[in-house]
Amino acid sequence: MIIETLQNPRPAIFPDNPGFGRLYTNRMFTQHYTQDQGWHDARIGAFGPLPMHPVAQVLHIGLAIFEGTKAYRRADGNINLFRVDRNMARLNRSAVRLGMPEIDPATHIDYIESLVKLEHEWVPRLPNCTLYIRPVVISTEETLEVRIGKKFLHYIFLSPVGPYFANGFNPVAVHISHDYVRAVKGGTGEAKTTGNYAGTVAVAEQVRPHGYQQVLWLDAVERRYIEEVGAMNIMFVRDGKHIVTPALSGSILHGVTRESVLQLAPDLGYTVSEERLDVDEILADIEKGRITEAFGVGTAAVVSPVGKFGYKGKEYRINDEKSGPVATHLYKALTDIQYGHTPDPYGWMRTIKID
Ligand SMILES: Cc1ncc(COP(=O)(O)O)c(C=O)c1O
Repeated sequence: MIIETLQNPRPAIFPDNPGFGRLYTNRMFTQHYTQDQGWHDARIGAFGPLPMHPVAQVLHIGLAIFEGTKAYRRADGNINLFRVDRNMARLNRSAVRLGMPEIDPATHIDYIESLVKLEHEWVPRLPNCTLYIRPVVISTEETLEVRIGKKFLHYIFLSPVGPYFANGFNPVAVHISHDYVRAVKGGTGEAKTTGNYAGTVAVAEQVRPHGYQQVLWLDAVERRYIEEVGAMNIMFVRDGKHIVTPALSGSILHGVTRESVLQLAPDLGYTVSEERLDVDEILADIEKGRITEAFGVGTAAVVSPVGKFGYKGKEYRINDEKSGPVATHLYKALTDIQYGHTPDPYGWMRTIKID
């Protein structure tokens, strides 16, 4: 890998709350793929615009996949990566679904570690702040044909971030969409690809003026079973101690946080299950007080309590629209492992030593 020398790198100075996805570091990683050479020309250079042919496939048929993972500043000054192997495995599953070339996971993790190490000053030292890592693969092939690509660009950039939601660890309001769907079994819902998101943003915008920050999607066939939120998987708490989440249906993203909570929660004294969840039954249980909490789980927000759902013109409030004890417990337990405040019995963390 070539590491270019930067001319005038900016000092790593950013506000106490850097927001989410507003600031970028000085460097990024890039490499190219052709059928003859495979992945080649790996380099870390200056962060900046990508030269792009107007006919590049990504601009027309959206051949693009991406990942999102984070680097956490430890109290000893070193830096933790959380389950980055799971993100790289998912990137390759997304690649296979879109007919893209895979990237050797170990090499990919090496690239991430090298980039984060060079940019270590940008990993915030403030509580609840992290360095967000975004690997992307796009087809740069110049063709109007609708077929798999033969030329790709893989790049990774970094963004110091604060909490995903402006109000931090406070409950969000979630609109349950009945009129629109996100993904269908057999489609691309399990892949982290741009099209899955492109179809959702206008719907989210429609409900924003009504006070909803997120949309919960139902299955596309019966519009009855709960799937996931815009950028999070969803979990419910029954009677204060049982955590239930929709089973992976073929159209839900296999969230790394979801997988981690399902593994961690039993060690914290909760029972867990993955089920097919009927929206009417869940909402009835909320009304009866049998569902005591709901929360989203994902890399960006980690655990995000839901204060109320809106569905077909009616509102369903949970736990008086306050953050509940289970969400709070899980958030603390997971972030304590991620920042290295408590031991990691699961082998989830990789530590990058900063000299
Ligand atoms: C649609 C969707 N669901 C769920 C998640 C949560 O996945 P993870 O925990 O791997 O971030 C994300 C975020 O990546 C997402 O975009």
